[in-house]
Amino acid sequence: MREELLSPENSVEEEAIDVELDALGLRPSCLGDFIGQPELKEHLSIILGAAKKRDQPSDHLLFAGPPGLGKTTLANIVAREMEVSLHTTSGPALERAGDLAAILTKLEPGDVLFIDEIHRLNRAVEEVLYPAMEDFQLDIVLGKGPAARSVRLAVSPFTLVGATTRTGLITGPLRDRFGLVARMDYYNAADLNAIILRSANIFEVEIDEDGSKEIAVRSRGTPRIANRLLRRVRDYAEIKAEGAIDKEISVDGLKLFGVDERGLDKVDRAILSAICARFKGGPVGLSTLAISVAEPTETVEDVYEPFLIQQGFIMRTPRGRVATDAAWHHLGLEPPETNSLSSPNLFS
Ligand SMILES: Nc1ncnc2c1ncn2[C@@H]1O[C@H](COP(=O)(O)OP(=O)(O)O)[C@@H](O)[C@H]1O
Ligand SMILES: [Mg+2]
Repeated sequence: MREELLSPENSVEEEAIDVELDALGLRPSCLGDFIGQPELKEHLSIILGAAKKRDQPSDHLLFAGPPGLGKTTLANIVAREMEVSLHTTSGPALERAGDLAAILTKLEPGDVLFIDEIHRLNRAVEEVLYPAMEDFQLDIVLGKGPAARSVRLAVSPFTLVGATTRTGLITGPLRDRFGLVARMDYYNAADLNAIILRSANIFEVEIDEDGSKEIAVRSRGTPRIANRLLRRVRDYAEIKAEGAIDKEISVDGLKLFGVDERGLDKVDRAILSAICARFKGGPVGLSTLAISVAEPTETVEDVYEPFLIQQGFIMRTPRGRVATDAAWHHLGLEPPETNSLSSPNLFS
């Protein structure tokens, strides 16, 4: 259960918790309430402001980045700021071209269509999307074989908002059709701190600045995790300290739930220890690594690895993943003499 609560994976269960929390107003609903990502916010406010002034839908927008950084939140904000309806679907849900056509023909002028996990669209669906994005046209093939004919339908001008955890998997032609491709970065501790204080206020939890900072630095740069850790520490505080969160309560509570001082959870540490202990520091291939920590390859690649790389614990090399000196030290181990990774330049 603990692992489930702490896993940063964007699971169905996690989405369900988000929906519940949204009802409390946890998800920021306008750009002004969206904390951090200043550059992206500025770009968006210019793009949306200009579109509104022209009374046209905004350019299509693509948000890319690890789970929990605010992509779905931004899609909601775009619709809200443009004062239009949001229609939500996802790459895997659109199995056939007809599924997409059904959604597109329902759009009102200016509406926002949000396609989550857009890198998982299949080719046939993607090809229907191109003319829709570009000319607001829908090409539909009726019938089969020699009798087949193609009809062209107009759809209302709309804004497509795409979200992906992997820009690398978006095809060139699709990416080129977005007016803005925004790579979202992990949040810094100050922004996470602000997010935690805002959430604590909504939850009506008593928390001091040091208690909040302690949670912030352990949130893997991710707002969703910050909110989740806050809920865990709140539970702990209710039992141990009549609900008030200070530094000590944060530290003890997070330790109890397996989050260490760098924000790494059990799976993160299992990954580091697999590379260091079992594979002698690497290089080790991604799928071998995933098997050895009993996680799906995709989860390791999308969820765990980006943060471990960003924090300088592991590196990608042409021959596989390798542990840096920092990883060995974090596990309380001495790096081997031959560990060439004290000098990252060797691999760039
Ligand atoms: N910039 C932000 N400011 C405040 N809260 C945020 C921010 N970004 C995300 N959140 C919170 O984190 C949760 C996860 O964000 P979400 O948009 O669902 O992430 P993604 O779609 O990228 O996985 C949201 O419910 C929201 O409460
Ligand atoms: Mg999402």
